[in-house]
Amino acid sequence: MSNTVSPSLPLNTDVPEWVRHPGLKTWVAQIAQLTKPDSIVWCDGTEAEYDRLCEQMVQAGTLRRLNPAKRPNSYLAWSDPDDVARVEDRTFICSEKEIDAGPTNNWMAPAAMREQLNGLFAGCMRGRTMYVIPFSMGPLGSPIAQIGIELSDSPYVVANMRLMTRMGRKVYDVLGSDGEFVPCVHSVGRPLAPGQADVPWPCNRTKYIVHYPETREIWSYGSGYGGNALLGKKCLALRIASVMGRDEGWMAEHMLILGVTSPEGKKMHVAAAFPSACGKTNFAMLIPPESLSGWSVTTIGDDIAWIKPGADGRLYAINPEAGYFGVAPGTSKKTNFNCMASLRQNALFTNVALTDDGDVWWEGMGPAPAHCLDWHGKDWTPDSGRKAAHPNARFTVAAEQNPAIDPEWDNPDGVAIDAFIFGGRRSDTIPLVTEARSWQEGVYMAATLGSQTTAAAAGVQGVVRRDPFAMLPFCGYNMGDYFGHWLKLGEQLQMVGAVLPRFFCVNWFRTDAQGKFIWPGFGENMRVLKWMLGRIDGSAHGEENLFGISPRYQDISWDGLDFPADKFEAATRIDTDGWRQELDAHTELFERLAERLPGALPVIQQRLLERLDT
Ligand code: GTP
Ligand code: SPV
Ligand code: MN
Repeated sequence: MSNTVSPSLPLNTDVPEWVRHPGLKTWVAQIAQLTKPDSIVWCDGTEAEYDRLCEQMVQAGTLRRLNPAKRPNSYLAWSDPDDVARVEDRTFICSEKEIDAGPTNNWMAPAAMREQLNGLFAGCMRGRTMYVIPFSMGPLGSPIAQIGIELSDSPYVVANMRLMTRMGRKVYDVLGSDGEFVPCVHSVGRPLAPGQADVPWPCNRTKYIVHYPETREIWSYGSGYGGNALLGKKCLALRIASVMGRDEGWMAEHMLILGVTSPEGKKMHVAAAFPSACGKTNFAMLIPPESLSGWSVTTIGDDIAWIKPGADGRLYAINPEAGYFGVAPGTSKKTNFNCMASLRQNALFTNVALTDDGDVWWEGMGPAPAHCLDWHGKDWTPDSGRKAAHPNARFTVAAEQNPAIDPEWDNPDGVAIDAFIFGGRRSDTIPLVTEARSWQEGVYMAATLGSQTTAAAAGVQGVVRRDPFAMLPFCGYNMGDYFGHWLKLGEQLQMVGAVLPRFFCVNWFRTDAQGKFIWPGFGENMRVLKWMLGRIDGSAHGEENLFGISPRYQDISWDGLDFPADKFEAATRIDTDGWRQELDAHTELFERLAERLPGALPVIQQRLLERLDT
């Protein structure tokens, strides 16, 4: 290149002496030159910085401080009504070849996308501050961790990243002068002209959430919400990390991780993939019913797991995050006591209602207040006929506040996984719980997972779609190759004679003729978990059906719960017609993925069809 004039930082910007990475400084300068912020702030991750930014956002109208007597050190944000969830139709995997992104991802050639984004990002931070956010996904300095640097013009993003990741100056110590990091560029896409007043929640109708898997870069434009904007989460820890895992022999998964200890003190670990807003946070913080006292559940993670084979052939999982960005509606002391306890203080809330005494409320939290302000900031009463909180309203809170946090949650070596659980939101067909007969059948179960869509993503809600491994929106490469990666891993573990984790499929969401959930769910899910653990240690029995092995009524502990056999039958029945349709839906998925689909999966499907016919 002939014009090698090195880009300069805006005049008012000093790079702190603790940033010692020339490549990073040059990149920040380049992005500043493109986006033209008024100033640059190098975030240090301190509490003082967090407090200052929150106060600034209170002044700007982005945040409301909640009543300190009710909810100390906590804030509420109301977003723009057009910016309330992930935008899957605006999410792109820009690999060099379209086939490497695969039929389930949006794709554009990297060069064409870069040109498009260069246009959009040119001057997009005018009138704003660009924050340099250093973060680590995974324990700082651990060999399993990945460092990212997010450049964002949103102070809301900075505050959330501080709760959700290991963020701050310490990251630069690990990074040194030549360490690797994933560059993440984020803008709300709303530059300000000189003197122009800002809006409380700046964003842009045009949105792009873009990943370059080969060069491991992330660019996000137009949204300030959740997974669109907190780039360490879905973009880095799932889409980019899944590609790293494919190349390096590990896995990045949309899974909670929990520890479960029996009354005898035996501890096991479970990783469970449920699609967005299908109960991961609840399951990760489960409190067993009193009648199963002596059992306890502890949380390692509630959304993302990175899983690697250890030297002993077992699979070890870490939670790369350091906080929870969870669904608020439906969360109460009854459904998730530990979660409510986590939220007593130091929490950020987005798109929930504000009560007259300065606290938060959402549908399902408890009795509705006689009056409050809904997430639009409008007067709301129980008879106003609309929801006070947005269905995808969320809280952000540091993991350390969870009273049920597992002592190993921060261990860079992770925890050894004994079982994988997969489950979607299905009003029919899929029984309460089924154990796969082999790793391969388990992969089949997970690959063909279906679920009714939820408010966690923009678009139509409640329609069943295939959501393989609950990774449909999060797999950074071809889904057929991803199935192959899982199958290969199983073969490798089998070859070294490792004890393989078992695979289970669950469904908490079957409904009766009145449309009511048949299974009580939440803490009662412990009964199902207990059966699964019993299967692993050989103490629990079941009965083989078409799909795998399921418990009979007498195989589950019912102490303290009135759940008669006919209800159990309704929650577990295998309906032949329903299953014929189900297997047809699998065919649709397989045809879509045909180009890279591992041959083992249609073979298993054939076997299931033959069983169905006999
Ligand atoms: P993301 O954060 O979007 O990835 O989702 P998540 O899987 O962590 O979702 P979360 O646990 O926050 O799910 C919230 C929704 O699931 C709420 O509507 C809950 O009421 C519902 N839910 C959770 N557990 C159960 C259960 O056992 N039974 C039923 N019926 N609903 C449940
Ligand atoms: C999900 O949608 O699966 C989430 C929320 O966990 S977000 O971070 O917004 O993607
Ligand atoms: Mn999620």
